[in-house]
Amino acid sequence: MKDLLAATANRSTRYLAGIAHMPVAPRPEAIERLEALGGVLPQGPSDPIDVLALLDDVGSPATVATTGGRYFGFVIGGTLPAALAANWLAGAWDQNAGLYVTSPVAAKIEEIVLGWILDLLGLPLTCGAGFVTGTTMANFSALAAARTALLHRIGWDVEQHGLFGAPPIQVVVGEEVHVSVLKALSMLGLGRSRVISVPTDNQGRMKADALPNMDDHTLVCIQAGNVNTGAFDPAREICSRANEAGAWVHVDGAFGLWAAASPRYAPLLDGVSAADSWAIDCHKWLNVPYDSGIAVVREPEHLRSAMALTAAYLQTSGTREPCHYTPDASRRARGVELWAALRSLGRDGLRDLIERTCSLARMFAEAFRKAGFEVLNDVVLNQVLVCFGDDQRTRRVIDEVQKEGTCWCGGTVWHGRTAMRISVSSWATTAADVEASVAAILKTAA
Ligand SMILES: Cc1ncc(COP(=O)(O)O)c(C=O)c1O
Repeated sequence: MKDLLAATANRSTRYLAGIAHMPVAPRPEAIERLEALGGVLPQGPSDPIDVLALLDDVGSPATVATTGGRYFGFVIGGTLPAALAANWLAGAWDQNAGLYVTSPVAAKIEEIVLGWILDLLGLPLTCGAGFVTGTTMANFSALAAARTALLHRIGWDVEQHGLFGAPPIQVVVGEEVHVSVLKALSMLGLGRSRVISVPTDNQGRMKADALPNMDDHTLVCIQAGNVNTGAFDPAREICSRANEAGAWVHVDGAFGLWAAASPRYAPLLDGVSAADSWAIDCHKWLNVPYDSGIAVVREPEHLRSAMALTAAYLQTSGTREPCHYTPDASRRARGVELWAALRSLGRDGLRDLIERTCSLARMFAEAFRKAGFEVLNDVVLNQVLVCFGDDQRTRRVIDEVQKEGTCWCGGTVWHGRTAMRISVSSWATTAADVEASVAAILKTAA
């Protein structure tokens, strides 16, 4: 075991040391070589050292260098050193984080991390939360709690009786709602397309004055951080109108909620703490390993009612049982990496991570404008949308940049126009990475 883990450490450090020099997207030859991992499953056992060597030799060159400093696709962070190290140790611990009795350390760490995060994000310290796989499941879990609470108010126990015959819930979203919210609504039986869709402005912010009439069986889904522009829905106005009507407000704050850790960006979140539930992502801007998100609910009991499971053999301990707040029962101790990331960053480090990545996003935008290209969004956070001429030309630039390998940027369509999307979400990105990436993109665009 000792030799195996030492070899793993050596191979991992070699991989990370080389990441700045590898193409950000794997070469086609490296992907073709992945066949070497397949074939007929050997009849007998193999030495774990050889298994690891094969995995590294064939697998590593075929990875996407998302944990390096020049990956700007989707909203993808890297892995902070302390978070990676904690991930290894937690792997050695092999804890089942479902119950206190199966892992007191995982259960305790979740409580500590939750307290830190609620405080950092300015959310009520009495909230309950489930540690889930990402924002899609955080949206699902929080919206399940909303469904439970709203139907309970009108005398319907959805856990016992299901949705057939239940009184309707009015669901309100913005036109720019993230698809994961619609997926969560569909999984919850609330439907993707029976929502009322509120118009948005040119940055993708919901127009609060276009909200429909709301009541105490209305569910309003707003977002903090549009996946394309980084813009925030006007939470104060929406929450105040919804609260007056008794409606439930859910915030998809996948990456945007982390802006609260910076006094400079926190004003973008004005009013967000008046909502009833929040979905937060940790594998994006907090830079912990996949998979990691948190569903936060103001009244813990609603999340618990939606998620708890009991059985004679599931021994409880009179304390917070992690599996009472998540869709799954057995799961890994993902709170460990959150603890390590936050403990290593401290408040100042997290603020610096947020502010640095936002300022690098502005650096991209300024360089593109200076070169005469159009930046489509107000760069209020870490997201940049840029066009290199007509749609066809922009599409071509995106394809060629992806093939060239200095950096990786994806594409999108924003208000009818094809744009390159740049999301600066990694702790590892430096000004030199941005300069090299801008140079490669402008060379391709020229
Ligand atoms: C606003 C928003 N919500 C939800 C998601 C989905 O997150 P995940 O991939 O962690 O499920 C994303 C992903 O980028 C996002 O930006």
